[in-house]
Amino acid sequence: EKGGYDTFMEKEISEQPHAVADTLLGRTNDAGELVLDELRIDEDELKSIDRITIVACGTAAYAGMVAKYAIEHWTRIPVEVALAHEFRYCDPIVDAKTLVVSISQSGETMDTLMAVKHARELGARTISICNTHGSTIPRESDAVLYTHAGPEIAVASTKAFLAQITACYVLGLYLAQLRGGTYAQDAKAVLSELHGVPAKIEALLGSMDRVREIARFMADTRSVLFLGRQVGFPIAMEGALKLKELAYIHAEGFAAGELKHGPIALIDAGQPVFIVVPGPDTPHGLHGKVVSNIQEIRARGARTLVIAQEGDEAVVPFADEVIRVPHTSPLLQPLLTVVPLQVFALELSTAKGLDVDQPRNLAKSVTVE
Ligand code: M6R
Repeated sequence: EKGGYDTFMEKEISEQPHAVADTLLGRTNDAGELVLDELRIDEDELKSIDRITIVACGTAAYAGMVAKYAIEHWTRIPVEVALAHEFRYCDPIVDAKTLVVSISQSGETMDTLMAVKHARELGARTISICNTHGSTIPRESDAVLYTHAGPEIAVASTKAFLAQITACYVLGLYLAQLRGGTYAQDAKAVLSELHGVPAKIEALLGSMDRVREIARFMADTRSVLFLGRQVGFPIAMEGALKLKELAYIHAEGFAAGELKHGPIALIDAGQPVFIVVPGPDTPHGLHGKVVSNIQEIRARGARTLVIAQEGDEAVVPFADEVIRVPHTSPLLQPLLTVVPLQVFALELSTAKGLDVDQPRNLAKSVTVE
């Protein structure tokens, strides 16, 4: 049942190209436009949405954070991401023009379910992005957009995360398409690029030997930091979460811009830091800013483990290791940059002799508060 792999997590990481491709499958027409018949919310109603709130927990919430950057850019609709357990007990600003999007692999996470119920009581339209047919959250939502990652068994979420990001992109691009004009044109171009991403993930998976080696040499490491910016910021947090839950190592993800506001004090000789570098074509000169961050922490002794696009030579002088990912436009990069971080956590956990599929104290689906 593990298909020749030692662990479910390894198998599921290897299935990621399919998770993305299958989540796109059957949702585009011959003209290259999205067709989402399954969204049983009236088009006019969707067009009138003036705010989106995403509710989720853990890794699914990081998928939501990635989606915020993308959906806001593509649609100009404000998007807020709320941890479901916080949303439930605050006084959220939600009305009939708010679209509440829940993200859940299992469809059974109690906090997320209660957040959806809360949103409905407040009059919001609710869409569930979910990987499990017939589960509770989709049943309690107005509409569902299924991720087609296939069953995820390992407690640590990997392929469901990529599928969640993909489904969020599909939703965002669909809303952009509904807006028409240049929004729709731009959405079409992104969608066509998105169809090419699974092959890039496949290629990336074939080049993970060095990442595995780095992880094996780090079995005694006590703390790892992760930096990212823009869509790379939630990826940094996801990399840290994977390491905590799988290898029981202290790990933290930061927005690289926060360094000077405190975290840089943590840097001393030998401190390993992963840096998720935005592609050189990212707007606002973010690439150069992150390269400067790498330089700053290296000067203070950090061991810099740099995830950068193929052809990005600017990082080389400041990197102890460069892990290459294929080129995509900036907002699609998370589908690639997270992969080495998943492999790193898996390998480190294995090197420590831990149970990769069933980490201590955790359950696959958290059905209690
Ligand atoms: O089933 P869900 O997607 O609602 O689960 C949400 C989180 O519990 C889940 O993503 C958790 O953070 C994973 N163990 C992360 O690997």
